[in-house]
Amino acid sequence: MNISEKMNDIDLYFKEKLHTSDPVLESILRANKEAGLPAIDVAPNQGKWLYLLAKLSGAKNILEIGTLGGYSSIWLGRALPEEGRLVTLELDPVHANVAVENIRKAGLENKVEVMVGPALDTLPTLKEKGFAPFDFIFIDADKPNYPNYLKWAMNYSKSGTVVVADNVVRKGRVIDAEDESVQGIREFIDLLSVESRIDSTAVQTVGSKGYDGFVLGIVK
Ligand code: SAH
Ligand code: DHB
Ligand code: MG
Repeated sequence: MNISEKMNDIDLYFKEKLHTSDPVLESILRANKEAGLPAIDVAPNQGKWLYLLAKLSGAKNILEIGTLGGYSSIWLGRALPEEGRLVTLELDPVHANVAVENIRKAGLENKVEVMVGPALDTLPTLKEKGFAPFDFIFIDADKPNYPNYLKWAMNYSKSGTVVVADNVVRKGRVIDAEDESVQGIREFIDLLSVESRIDSTAVQTVGSKGYDGFVLGIVK
């Protein structure tokens, strides 16, 4: 068995042992596949990781940038208390429609709102709509804009806000290849490294989604 098969099987092992069977989330991944969405949602154990982080932080007001079919939105939405809210930003109306239906299937339509359009257009409207500041921000959209998303995240945070960013390792390419996406990630890391208002680290991950990693930060 090669290492990527092993990583995949170990993700399955932990999922079977540690997450009770979850027909809603399974059906959402199937719906995404049927709608032709790319399988770039977070892995099930990463989704649960996000859920646990949101719970740990006691988040009531969550921002997600990059919805796809709403798989990570649903994990995060489940961590919310009764009066909690999550707003998730998605460029592609096809992805957004699938997400809205999935969020409804998960029974989260009263807590989770999908906003369609380029995130750099919808982000400036969040304050007047009364969403910001946020307690928890998950960055997972187009990688070249990660530096811009971090600026907005800082703008929309307060002391204790948790910031998580996906895909910061990209199969190791973060230090040895520089396409547009990797450049975006590196600029994002450079910004974090000079941003004195946030305490952060990055952790590499392996598993069913291959070799990648997350940034985790807390606003001081
Ligand atoms: N968070 C999701 C995966 C997101 S994949 C999950 O884990 O389930 C990245 C998503 O970002 C895609 O759906 C893509 O259409 C969207 N995206 C790309 N560019 C964007 C932009 N400029 N603004 C908002 N969303 C964007
Ligand atoms: C891509 C985007 C993601 O958010 C992800 O988790 C994996 C891949 C991509 O655009 O290729
Ligand atoms: Mg991602």
